[in-house]
Amino acid sequence: MKYDFTGKVALVTGGAAGMGLAASKAYADAGAAVAVADINLEEAQKLVDEITADGGKAIAIKCDVADEAQVKAMVDQVIAEFGQLDMAFNNAGIQAPGGATDVSHTTKDMYDLVEGINLRGIWNCMKYELMHMRERGTGAIVNNSSVGGIVGLPGRAIYHATKHGVIGMTKSAALEVAQEGIRINAICPGTIETPMVKEMLDKEPELMKELAKVQVIGRLGQPEEIAAAVMWLSSDEASFVIGHSLVLDGGFTVH
Ligand SMILES: NC(=O)c1ccc[n+]([C@@H]2O[C@H](COP(=O)([O-])OP(=O)(O)OC[C@H]3O[C@@H](n4cnc5c(N)ncnc54)[C@H](O)[C@@H]3O)[C@@H](O)[C@H]2O)c1
Repeated sequence: MKYDFTGKVALVTGGAAGMGLAASKAYADAGAAVAVADINLEEAQKLVDEITADGGKAIAIKCDVADEAQVKAMVDQVIAEFGQLDMAFNNAGIQAPGGATDVSHTTKDMYDLVEGINLRGIWNCMKYELMHMRERGTGAIVNNSSVGGIVGLPGRAIYHATKHGVIGMTKSAALEVAQEGIRINAICPGTIETPMVKEMLDKEPELMKELAKVQVIGRLGQPEEIAAAVMWLSSDEASFVIGHSLVLDGGFTVH
């Protein structure tokens, strides 16, 4: 499916790698001007150089989504550079450092770190994106949850709690703005071949083999397969889709 986002502006957090990178490229391929926001400015700038070399329009912004002031500055910069914001993929997220750890062994610092990025980060982003979108009465936001937002997994309580939270936050915020021309939805990817998963594969090869097996399709997902869903949810083709959490998991949660 080819979308036409000419004249539109997209913001992608965690845009320098994995699903964020694939979505940034897909928005640019569809003609949108793209703000690639990431904590890693160097990688974001590399992607922006690639997009602009291909004739696209993009800027790199350094932003830690856990920091409200940085998120406000990020949205301000998008408006200053491109004049508007039409679509946002709030994607930045992390696994708990150190791999699978049961609740009784996790620390407050671990909790605060993961929650600050994965859940408060989404709240920070939606807050400032919506301030702008509400003024214009138009916009589409896609938040990246996970199958971890639907099921539990031993050793992953903090991560899964944040991803369950993203779904609840998406539903409530979607209801707040549904009558103002703004649609907010979420996606719930299964295990996708990104730098995050490559790192987990290295740390926990046995667990990751198990996870790949329970994806009924028999393989890991590709970032481009997730970007395809983000493009659809961002587009007018999804004009009647509100507060939905779209599962993209190769069959993982079916049985
Ligand atoms: N890979 C998977 O299997 C999988 C499955 C379900 C959900 N998810 C979720 O999808 C999202 C993207 O995952 P991915 O696998 O592409 O990750 P990734 O680690 O491959 O890439 C994430 C990007 O986000 C950036 N980032 C990290 N912390 C940030 C912060 N505080 N502020 C801004 N940017 C930050 C990183 O620099 C990196 O460029 C995450 O929210 C993740 O939880 C991943």
